[in-house]
Amino acid sequence: MVTVTQTPQKRLTMQVEEIAVDTTTMRSLDWDRDRFDIEYGLQNGTTYNSFLIRGEKVALVDTSHEKFRQLYFDTLTGLIDIASIDYLIISHTEPDHSGLVRDVLQIAPEITVVGSKVAIQFLENLVHTPFKRQIVKNGDRLDLGHGHELEFVIAPNLHWPDTIFTFDHKTQILYTCDAFGLHYCSDDTFDTNLEAISPDFQYYYECLMAPNARSVLSALKRMDELTHIEMIATGHGPLLRNHVQELTGRYRRWSQSQTKAETTVGIFYVSEYGYSDNLAHALATGINKTGVATEMVDLKTVDLQELQELVGRCAGIIIGMPPASNQAAQTALGTVLGAVKEKQAVGIFETGGGDDEPTYPLLNKFRSLGLHVAFPVIEIRETPTDNLYKRCEESGTDLAQWVTRDKSIKQMKSLGADLDKALGRISGGLYIITAKKGDVKSAMLASWVTQASFKPLGVSIAVAKDRAIESLMQVGDKFVLNVLEEGNYQGLMKHFLKRFAPGADRFEGVRTQPAENGAPILADALAYMECEVASRLDAGDHWIVYCTVYAGRVSKPEGVTAVHHRKVGNHY
Ligand code: FEO
Repeated sequence: MVTVTQTPQKRLTMQVEEIAVDTTTMRSLDWDRDRFDIEYGLQNGTTYNSFLIRGEKVALVDTSHEKFRQLYFDTLTGLIDIASIDYLIISHTEPDHSGLVRDVLQIAPEITVVGSKVAIQFLENLVHTPFKRQIVKNGDRLDLGHGHELEFVIAPNLHWPDTIFTFDHKTQILYTCDAFGLHYCSDDTFDTNLEAISPDFQYYYECLMAPNARSVLSALKRMDELTHIEMIATGHGPLLRNHVQELTGRYRRWSQSQTKAETTVGIFYVSEYGYSDNLAHALATGINKTGVATEMVDLKTVDLQELQELVGRCAGIIIGMPPASNQAAQTALGTVLGAVKEKQAVGIFETGGGDDEPTYPLLNKFRSLGLHVAFPVIEIRETPTDNLYKRCEESGTDLAQWVTRDKSIKQMKSLGADLDKALGRISGGLYIITAKKGDVKSAMLASWVTQASFKPLGVSIAVAKDRAIESLMQVGDKFVLNVLEEGNYQGLMKHFLKRFAPGADRFEGVRTQPAENGAPILADALAYMECEVASRLDAGDHWIVYCTVYAGRVSKPEGVTAVHHRKVGNHY
C-alpha cells in the first residue's frame, strides 16, 4: 500500500492498493468533509474511489473530486502514462466522481469515454469540448483483453439517472459508484470491521437510496443475473469484500420494506431536467425524516399502468414540473391527474429547466379534484441555494406530517391516561436552540434539555426527528442554547411555537446578535451557551443530541430559568 500525503495537514490523502489481478484502486481520502448536502451531515469524512484495470487495453473507472486534483494526478502518473489509457468509464457524473474528467481528457484527448446515454449528455455540458464516446446499454460488453471482459449494468437513480455498474468477468469485481457505498474515511481499504461501518452504511442508504428503493430492487435483480460477485468496488468508503452477501442483503431488505411501507409519498418528475434531481432528493429527505416512505418516479420513462397503481396507493404526491415539450412526461402527468383521489396531499415544485409550464393551472386542477395542497409552490428564480434546498426539505416534512396526522392523533390517544399524566409530571426548563450553517438558519423551542457531563462540560437535548433544525444538528455542528427567563419568556415562546412556513425566516422581528459560532443569540434570553454536537443517539421518534459546551454567558445574574409544567407526557 502506498500513501501520498498533502502537506502541511494530513487531511486529504491518497491511498493506492492492488485489489485484484491487474486492478488498482486509487482512493481519495477526504478526512474532514462534514456535509454532502445541507441536510446530510457526515461523521467520518468520506472517500472518492477510482480504479485502474489493465488488460491489453486500459480502463480508468471514475476519477475524483476536483479538490484532489494535484494528489490524484501525482498518484495516477505514478502508476501509468495517462495518455496510454484507452477507456474512461463514467459510472455517474456527479462532481465527486467526475470532477477531474475534463483534466483527464485534456491530458489524454484520444481516450474513449464510456457511459450511459444520460451520463454522456451530462458530460457534454461539463466538458464543453468534443470527446470520443461509447454509449452502453444494459448487458453490453467491452473486452479489455487478458480476460478482463467488462459487462455493463444499467442502474438508473442510484444515485442519479445516469448510473451504470461495471462487472469485470475476470476479477468478478462489480464497480457500483454510489450504490453500496458509505461516507466513511479510514485507512481500511475493505469492509473489515462490519460493526464500525454499519451505522454509516445504513445512514447512507437512508439518505441516498431509500427514496429510490424500487430502483435499488431493479438493480439487485440485474446483479442476480451476473455470475458470482467477489467484490463490490464502491465509489465511497471501503470496498466490500468480506461482507458482500450481508450488505447487499441489507439493501434488499430495506428496499423491500420501503416499497411495502404503510404510508408512501410519490415524487413525480423528469429526472435529468433542470435542478429536479437535487430538489426531489431534498423533498424526499424531509418526508423520510417523519418515517414516511417515498417513491421517486421519472415521468419520462415510467410504465403508465404502474404509475396509475402507485398514485392510487400514495397518501401524497409531489410533482416536479416536467418540460412542456416532452410528450411522454406530459402523458404521464395526465395519468397522474386521472389516478389521484380526494384527500391526498399534493405539492408542486418548479424544476428550473427553462421549458416549465406555469404551475397554478395544475395546482388548481388538483384542488378541484379534492386534494389538499400541503405547501406553497416551490418556485425557481435562480440557481438553487442551500436555503432553497432547506425549504424543499421542510416542505416535504410538512406534507408528510399532514398525511400522518390521523395516525399521530391515534397514537397520542393510545397511551393509558394514568401513565400519560404520570409522565407529564416530568418537567423541564424552557430553551430556544438557534443554529446557522452557511446561509441557512433555524430555531426550535426545547424543554428536554439537561446537563449531561462535567468533563467535558456537556448537555443533552432531545430533538424530534422531523424538526427542521435537526439537519443543522449533525455531529460537528455548532449552535447556541438560549435559556429563557421566568416571567420574561412568553413573547419568545409564542414566537417560536408558531408553525413556520417552509423556509420561513424564524428570526424576523426577534432581537439577536451573532455568537462566535455564527448562530443567533437571543437578546432577551437569560443566558446562552455555545455548543458543539459530539454524538447522537437514536431514540425512536427523537434524536438525543449530546453536545459539548465551550462558551456561555448570563445576562442577569439574579434571573431564574423558566420552567415548563405539562399535563400529559405523550405529546408536547
Ligand atoms: Fe457520490 Fe452521487 O455522487
